[in-house]
Amino acid sequence: MKFLVVNGPNLNFLGIREKGVYGSETYKELVEYIKDVSGKLIEEIEIKQSNSEGEIIDFLQKAYYDKVDGIIINPGAYTHYSYAIYDALKAVSIPAVEVHLSDIHDREDFRKVSVTAPACVKQICGKGKEGYIEGLLYLLEYLK
Ligand code: DQA
Repeated sequence: MKFLVVNGPNLNFLGIREKGVYGSETYKELVEYIKDVSGKLIEEIEIKQSNSEGEIIDFLQKAYYDKVDGIIINPGAYTHYSYAIYDALKAVSIPAVEVHLSDIHDREDFRKVSVTAPACVKQICGKGKEGYIEGLLYLLEYLK
């Protein structure tokens, strides 16, 4: 099984940005955690981050050609308005789980709407880094 994790804008600033919301762990620590845990569960995982919408779409399209089995995506603020990322998820038709570190349903109104979640098989939010692992386990069950 081959998985791709895609993190969107400002997630590279974890450990710096709004620590009260996202905690003090750095992006590097998040990546290491996902790699450590997923290493025991699946053969291959690639973890990518970009602050640009187009590059995120390129990651998703590449996943199609690379025959990736499942995607875990935290589109950051693009969650709330990127129909282009929604289209890309639909286009590649690889099962995807949307993950948010914070509980987007318990924050500002604009965060309550996800335009990308309808292109995903599940949304997980408010569980911090554990959300990525839960997403991975969900996809493993889903793909059985
Ligand atoms: C986020 C939630 C988004 O609303 C926000 O724009 C982010 C991070 C999260 O992981 O909680 O950048 O996706």
